[in-house]
Amino acid sequence: MISKQKGCVDLYGTTAKKWQYVNKVIDSLMEKYNYTFARTPIFEASELFHRGVGETTDIVTKETYDFVDRGERNVTLRPEGTAGIVRSYIENKMYGDPNQPVKLYYNGTMYRYERPQSGRDREFTQFGVEVLGSDDPLIDAEVISIPVMLLKMLGLNGVKVKINSLGDRESRDNYRKALIDYFKPHIKDLCEDCNERLNKNPLRILDCKVDKDNKLLKDAPTTLDYLNKESKERFDKVKEYLDELEIDYEVDPKIVRGLDYYNHTVFEIEASVEGFGSNNVLAGGGRYNGLVEALGGPETSGIGFACGIGRIVQALDLEEVKLPINDSLEVFVMYVSDTEKKYAASLVNYLRANGFKTDTEYTSRALKAQFKQADRLNAKYLIILNDEDLKNDEVKIKNNKTKEEELVSVDYLLYFLDEHLSDEELEDIEGLHECSCGCHKDNCECDDDCDCGCHDGEECTCGDDCDCGCHEKEE
Ligand code: HAM
Repeated sequence: MISKQKGCVDLYGTTAKKWQYVNKVIDSLMEKYNYTFARTPIFEASELFHRGVGETTDIVTKETYDFVDRGERNVTLRPEGTAGIVRSYIENKMYGDPNQPVKLYYNGTMYRYERPQSGRDREFTQFGVEVLGSDDPLIDAEVISIPVMLLKMLGLNGVKVKINSLGDRESRDNYRKALIDYFKPHIKDLCEDCNERLNKNPLRILDCKVDKDNKLLKDAPTTLDYLNKESKERFDKVKEYLDELEIDYEVDPKIVRGLDYYNHTVFEIEASVEGFGSNNVLAGGGRYNGLVEALGGPETSGIGFACGIGRIVQALDLEEVKLPINDSLEVFVMYVSDTEKKYAASLVNYLRANGFKTDTEYTSRALKAQFKQADRLNAKYLIILNDEDLKNDEVKIKNNKTKEEELVSVDYLLYFLDEHLSDEELEDIEGLHECSCGCHKDNCECDDDCDCGCHDGEECTCGDDCDCGCHEKEE
């Protein structure tokens, strides 16, 4: 047997369904925020990440998957999404679009050669956004609000938003000098890499994985003490907008982030769920004014964030959030003998073409075993074909819950299923929505209601919106 590579995961079964659900919520959320989907290649010229993410970062020095391709080019599997999006923004001259800022989102696999542990994989999936072409602090608040809204819509309660500011170039330079002065007398107490980092990039000492528990790092000067007036004022504006958006946050001056491109606002969203372990940052991001120029484009402001889908699903599991995953089948077509099998094949095709989630028997089970299979598939309606009924252009339909059975004319079949299944759907919705905010958690304390009181989310035609703004429940 050949096993999968270390730090990689196979996605299937219920976990795969949860990922699909999270992705659906992401797509619908991004539509509401008016961000458009972008896809960049999984591999890029190595230089992009060296220049973009930073030569002295752990990601670039220790974690990239680099290789030389058959044309002797140095290429790297992307360790993150920002550098690729910025390259694409420049290469496709998106800066020339009068519609600025350009608001993009992406969702794809990233690769980092890390020591695998819970929440830290070598292949992982990030959903992220990048906004290019605006330095308005309102955009900083909007970007922070996206993962907050996403986690709320998914029903996750235990999250903490932490923000900080690294300031502009002048503030960062002053902070850099302060760090060198602080660490220099004690540098022998730190690891070999930190010795190298001292003069090249002292900020990276602060996120050293080897020295992370060293008291010297904990007592180091913080960025906020070195912000100049403009940077302080800018940070205050971001906080004001966050207050306006009613986002609970904590200013944590220790957040510096492990990538070199950041300045001004940086933030992280932590899961404060018991049992999560140390890799509990669900989302992280910040402003990166200057990166577009560094990668060969015109002067352009930028900000974004990314979150690990795997970590979000892990948090949902730990909080035991009940997701509205549709695990049932609408129709299971059964047949008594091979005589009806061809008819079954065309009926299944017909029902699928008309929008019904349908399946049938493929392993020659006897009729009794087909009933069991229908139960395993959670089928709502069973169509039991036999020759006698078919001669009269009729089929037997059984409601698998009430066990009621009736003969239905084939001409009337679609209408019958439509009508009966929409009644079932309403029952499902009532059963599922213990909470009215759409979070699907029994213990939710929010008291948001859809104005019409139906809790049908996207299906509702009343035109009213849920107070939380999501109107998304079933999705
Ligand atoms: P990052 O903090 O390196 O930032 O990663 C963002 C998120 O990706 C983390 O908070 C975590 O949820 C997830 N993640 C990172 N590494 C792993 C891993 N090895 N296994 C599982 N999940 C992981 C960035 O990547 C920046 N590009 C974010 C950004 C976008 N900043 C501005 N724009």
